[in-house]
Amino acid sequence: MSSVRIEIQAPEDIISARQAAREIARKLGFKLADQTRLATAISELARNALQYAGGGTCSISDASDEGTMKVRVEVEDQGPGIADVEKAMTYGFTTGNGLGAGLPGSRSLVHEFQLTTSPGNTRVTVAMMRRRL
Ligand SMILES: Nc1ncnc2c1ncn2[C@@H]1O[C@H](COP(=O)(O)OP(=O)(O)OP(=O)(O)O)[C@@H](O)[C@H]1O
Ligand SMILES: [Mg+2]
Repeated sequence: MSSVRIEIQAPEDIISARQAAREIARKLGFKLADQTRLATAISELARNALQYAGGGTCSISDASDEGTMKVRVEVEDQGPGIADVEKAMTYGFTTGNGLGAGLPGSRSLVHEFQLTTSPGNTRVTVAMMRRRL
């Protein structure tokens, strides 16, 4: 198990991405709480890709090394991009009748969060990591 890629094209794919992230985190040794945090973050990012870009991809990989267990997830789409990232990262900002909680909530659930966006490409990379005991 080094990486999996899930195409996000329909609502059920969000569930697949969520389950795959949880499963990889579990296999790497993350506790249930971490599995759930990662799964929740990923489903928000996948939901955004579907809602605002009509779809995208979710790539989940094992980025562990000797001393650290680490799972990295990249959610990417070819949609219009995010015009104002600072606003988009603020709780309550939405252009889609949502709560505006997906992006800031995701960021708060994981240990690393990076967002790059331009018209035609948006990529959110998140990671969860724990030192091995
Ligand atoms: N992949 C994306 N492509 C284009 N715009 C996006 C993307 N993801 C987020 N956005 C923009 O950022 C805003 C904030 O996203 P966020 O997920 O935080 O909230 P939301 O989707 O509006 O509501 P919620 O996720 O709480 O239901 C969105 O309303 C949208 O304008
Ligand atoms: Mg959202």
